[in-house]
Amino acid sequence: MVDTKTLIRASFEAGREFLRPPAEREHATETRQAPAIVPIRSLGENHRERIAQHLLALAPHDRYLRFGHWTQDEQIQRYVASLDFERDEIFGIYNRKLELIAVAHLAYAKDQQHDSCAEFGVSVLTSARGRGYGARLFDRAAMHATNDGVSLMFIHALSENAAMLKIARNAGARVERDGSESEAYLRLPPASLDSRVTEMIEEQIAQTDYRLKSQAKSFWSFLADLQEIRRDVIDANQRSSP
Ligand SMILES: CC(C)(COP(=O)(O)OP(=O)(O)OC[C@H]1O[C@@H](n2cnc3c(N)ncnc32)[C@H](O)[C@@H]1OP(=O)(O)O)[C@@H](O)C(=O)NCCC(=O)NCCS
Repeated sequence: MVDTKTLIRASFEAGREFLRPPAEREHATETRQAPAIVPIRSLGENHRERIAQHLLALAPHDRYLRFGHWTQDEQIQRYVASLDFERDEIFGIYNRKLELIAVAHLAYAKDQQHDSCAEFGVSVLTSARGRGYGARLFDRAAMHATNDGVSLMFIHALSENAAMLKIARNAGARVERDGSESEAYLRLPPASLDSRVTEMIEEQIAQTDYRLKSQAKSFWSFLADLQEIRRDVIDANQRSSP
């Protein structure tokens, strides 16, 4: 459950970040820790293009780890075009520039015989790794699956994928290795009032965070335009003065 202290800390951090000019924020990214609450939002049809941009930005080896085989741009485009936002759940984390830095796909079994199972896949951009985003997306997907009546979440990963297997093991999944491939199985508890309310609150926080980031982005670009106009006027005045 999200406690009040965490909420207050998160809104204080968010307020401070939104008011910081973009140039200053660029410097801060290297040292910045993950915020108290990571705003993870559920993505819909209107995010399809940005999901494609996120996946296309992954290096070849990361695509290999994500999909289990070497993946060309066209295959990524086909995968993104086939995403079913009605049946599955796609989660994302946006940075302040509204770039999608992390995406998770919770895919539900198409076969009705296995409707209590779901598969988890995730990717985090290299620049945003090691801040706990992969693990938070895993927790969020597990909570969503729980609330949807799923009892088994599984992850297919290459055995060399230490980070993904660590995330799964840390969450209590059983990992079975079969040569170069591994399967991780996480048994989920039944949904509770707590899991439902927590998910609702987290989604609200993420929606609000996204709106604030959009507003801050257009505010800073409005200020940059003003600066540009001001500079043009000063230049013109200097040129016309004797
Ligand atoms: C796997 C991936 C999503 C992890 O994202 P991340 O945000 O960097 O992971 P986190 O910061 O949440 O770290 C999770 C755990 O893995 C550990 N970890 C991270 N990178 C690691 C690495 N290279 N080797 C070993 N452990 C690692 C972290 O220490 C952490 O464990 P801890 O909480 O016990 O300290 C990211 O590396 C990625 O996008 N890889 C390419 C795509 C992919 O492999 N997807 C998974 C297949 S579905």
